[in-house]
Formats: sequence, structure tokens, C-alpha cells
Amino acid sequence: MLQNALTIADLKARARRRVPKMFFDYADSGAWTEGTYRANEEDFAKILLRQRVLVDMTDRTLASEMIGEPVSMPVAIAPTGLTGMQHADGEILGAQAAEAFGIPFTLSTMSICSIEDIAANTTKPFWFQLYVMRDRAFIESLIGRARAAGCSALVLTLDLQILGQRHKDLRNGLSAPPKFTPKHVWQMATRPFWCLDMARTKRRTFGNIVGHAQNVGDLSSLSSWTAEQFDPRLSWEDVKWIRELWGGKLILKGILDPEDAKMAVGSGADAIIVSNHGGRQLDGARSSIAALPLVKQAVGDEIEVHMDGGIRSGQDVLKAIALGAKGVYIGRPFLYGLGAGGRDGVTRALEILKRELDITMALCGRRDIRTIGPEILDREPRLEDLRV
Ligand code: GLV
Repeated sequence: MLQNALTIADLKARARRRVPKMFFDYADSGAWTEGTYRANEEDFAKILLRQRVLVDMTDRTLASEMIGEPVSMPVAIAPTGLTGMQHADGEILGAQAAEAFGIPFTLSTMSICSIEDIAANTTKPFWFQLYVMRDRAFIESLIGRARAAGCSALVLTLDLQILGQRHKDLRNGLSAPPKFTPKHVWQMATRPFWCLDMARTKRRTFGNIVGHAQNVGDLSSLSSWTAEQFDPRLSWEDVKWIRELWGGKLILKGILDPEDAKMAVGSGADAIIVSNHGGRQLDGARSSIAALPLVKQAVGDEIEVHMDGGIRSGQDVLKAIALGAKGVYIGRPFLYGLGAGGRDGVTRALEILKRELDITMALCGRRDIRTIGPEILDREPRLEDLRV
């Protein structure tokens, strides 16, 4: 029963039982030793909150804004690849849950459901995440499709021009659609609800790409396809080109270093996302929450700062807001909710985070998320306490 899930960890356990191993592992993995993946979560636990008492706790609000858009809480759904393999039509279900909850949904370039699928099944604008490929005509067409679909922001990923090595994916022989070797068939056969739902949809491969891009090689293997297609020369000049081509709100995802953050201020982007790609790219990089105060110190209020990586509770959301993020993104908590129970599972994940965020804010003696700053922390985290 989804209602029995009280934490994101409960949803993760349920997703593990319902999603074939290769796809569950794709979500639950980091690069190489997974040290940065673990640090993203563990560093949050080192940040302490101040308990305040005898303050009025009535009329609390979590409503805020991200890039000028109203949000019912400052949490957006992160772009995640292969989401329609965690659950049939996963991106549509996620976008619908986010829309009903009043938070942004970001569709990945490497999604199973296409930009047009999401537009046809939602009523409010969503955000689109872009990977830049060598084929610039294809990038232009992707940007045009996002515009035609009414997307209200473009999220440009900067930290994945070369794919970090995730051992689990290589060992599992991950692909979309899945292969039909005995190992893969066994993984699927032991997840009958997943199979039933998947049998009812036609969306089983990369919907933004198949049938749209020219000269596409073997797309089913993400690692060989990124190596073949993604542009490893992506530069600040390209960011400018994309900003002009898009002409709308632009968010730069994957900034971890204060020097890069300063460069982003001059790029004309509307926001940056402090991110190490969920620990899936440069293993050994510092955690996102450790990077956040350094980036914030470097850019001040010159650009809106968001973060992702390691958020597993509403308490984590509050800590990130206290350290200067205007909003955060959830990737794995979203996927665990989706794998656990489709659209209702995503809604459950959002409810869990919202409740934890609300109660924590109240016990810190505060009523309005928009006024939260470092003063709610027991002391500002020292860098040496975090994993650097
Ligand atoms: C793609 O974005 C991935 O991290 O696998």
C-alpha cells in the first residue's frame, strides 16, 4: 500500500520489488566508487538545524517561485533518462503528478515519452532539458519542438558530454528497449505488474530521438550512443548560441565550481543548478550541498541558484534553501515513487517531502519558506565537516 510509505526510503524499497533490476540499478547508481553519490546524501546529515520554541506556528506557507514561476513548494522534478522504463509512460505520469501538485516537471532529452507526448497529456507548460549533440540541425529541431510544445524553460546540461562510467549499467547490459537474453527476460518476468503496464504502451524507446534524428546508430546502448553523438567540445560560446536560439528562460545545470558559477553569471542565463549529476559523472567531486554555499558566495544574488543531488527528505530541502538555493530538484525520489506506484507513487513522494518540509520549518520556528536563510541552521556547515 502506497499510503504505508512514510519515507522516500520506503518508496525505494517498493520500487526495487517492482522495477526490473537493470532499470532500478540505472537510477540507483553513481560513477565508479559511487563516493560522490553517497556524499550527496551523507553531507546533508552533517548539517544541523536550530530548534526554536514558543513562536506562533499558524498559517505556514511553502509557496515560492522558481525562475519567476509560482511553485507550491520549491521542489522541481529533475530530468532523468529512461524514465519510461521505470514504469510504462513514466514521463507522462510524472508530469501529470507534478502539474497537479503545482511544481515544475523537467523532461529529459533521453526520455522515453517525447516532448509531444508530454504536451498532449498535460495542460500547463513543462521544462525541457537539453543535451547538446554534434548534429546541430537536430539540436535546432529539438529546441523548436520544445518551443512548439510551450515549454517555459530550457535546462541545458553542462556536465555530461562524456558519460561517467557506472559499473552497474555495464554489468547489467542496460538498454532501452531491453534485450531479450535469458538474464534480461528473467529480470522482467519476475516483475509482472511492470510487464503488464509495459505491454499496454507503445513507448519503449527514446521518443525524442527515434524517428527525428538522422544517422542514429545503436541508440539502445546509452554509453555508446553518448560517445558517438554528444558533443565533447561544448563551450560557453555554444551556451550563447543556444540562449539566442531558444530566446526563453534558460537554466544551466551541472555547475559545481565557483569559477564556473561566475562565468555563468555573464552568460545571460536565468538560473544555475549546482549539481554533480547525482554523483553519476565525476566520482571524487564534492557533494552538491557542500558546493552550494561556495557557489552562492561567489555569485551572491547575481543569478538565481538552484541545486540537486542527495535530497531524500523535506529536511534536506529546507537545508538547501537555508544555504541559498531558491529551489531544488529531485531525481531519484521521483523515480522511486514512480517505480513504486506510477502517478500515485510520484504524488506520494511529493506528499512525503512536503510534509517533512512543513513540519521541519515549523519546528525551526518559521512560517514562510521565502524568508528562510542560514540563521535556521545550528551553525553554518564548515567545509572541513563535509566531504571535500
Ligand atoms: C543521464 O542523464 C544519466 O545520468 O544517465
